[in-house]
Amino acid sequence: MSKPTTVEFDLDRYLRNSKKVDLSGIDWDQVPGYPLSTGDVMCLHYMMDIETHTVIYLRDLLATRVAVDPQITAFLSCWVYEELWHGEAFSDFLRSYGLEVPAEPKLPDGSTPMPTHPNRWRNLRVRLGVGNGLGIVPTMLGSMMTRDFAAIHMMWGAVNELTTLTGYHALMRRCDHPELHKLLRNVIQDERRHFAFYRAQAKARLQRSRTARRLVRYVLRALWTPVGAGVKSEEEVDALAIYLFGDGREGREQIRDIDRTVSELPGLGGLTLLEDYLDDALERVAGRPGWAGVAHAPAPVLASGNGNAPAPAHWAKAGAVRED
Ligand SMILES: [Fe+2]
Ligand SMILES: [Fe+2]
Repeated sequence: MSKPTTVEFDLDRYLRNSKKVDLSGIDWDQVPGYPLSTGDVMCLHYMMDIETHTVIYLRDLLATRVAVDPQITAFLSCWVYEELWHGEAFSDFLRSYGLEVPAEPKLPDGSTPMPTHPNRWRNLRVRLGVGNGLGIVPTMLGSMMTRDFAAIHMMWGAVNELTTLTGYHALMRRCDHPELHKLLRNVIQDERRHFAFYRAQAKARLQRSRTARRLVRYVLRALWTPVGAGVKSEEEVDALAIYLFGDGREGREQIRDIDRTVSELPGLGGLTLLEDYLDDALERVAGRPGWAGVAHAPAPVLASGNGNAPAPAHWAKAGAVRED
């Protein structure tokens, strides 16, 4: 018989405190005053796209049994709102920096109507189809799964949120822009709460069910893809992974931290999803110089942790033809 499930997350507190990310501390006039590398800009575009794509991920989630759980749907209602504002924050930042190609429509007072970049989002979603590797799970497993099914989605969300917030920390390490640091610090606070919710939900489900443990482990090993895969091409995902985490020992340690955190959950010991992905990305670079904007395979440097991977360069060209 099933035991009562303890979820280590104060949902009531989260729901009452949920709000749009506070960017009042950012001096927007100062944003163009500090340089961003091509790699930094690539990351910001990627992050903007992924944050704005959250609602499509929500669509996939609500098509599953997760939708019958009122705790989860209450969380998702606030979560998707917060993620929308993260996307807008990155959009505002890039525009303030001067990267608005082509110009967005303006209201008579010079402001940009919300949501920003509507054509860009529409095109992305038309191209998208299935949102990510997880999107095929319902088809694959059909009605075999009952309540254990939610464990997969909660764990997938936990890995996504943890990877996202670690990526923001990595961008702060790679980029000194003080106003960007303020923005990222505020967004990271939200991502930490998101991660805490998904982790607590996943942990409770993994603790109570051996089937859930086996299922989640199997699905992560077989189907997991980094956050953004599906929206972004493999080359773009590789470029981001190498720029943020392939630049030396610190980046390597950051992704190992993610793997360690995942491994601490019941049934998931020993999984190295992130590090395996980075190693695979580096192998693709080694086999195809120029892949992901990296001219020379940085693998030996990455293994020993001295030095920096070059900033991916192909994004400069991609930006020029972007259809916003
Ligand atoms: Fe976010
Ligand atoms: Fe999040």
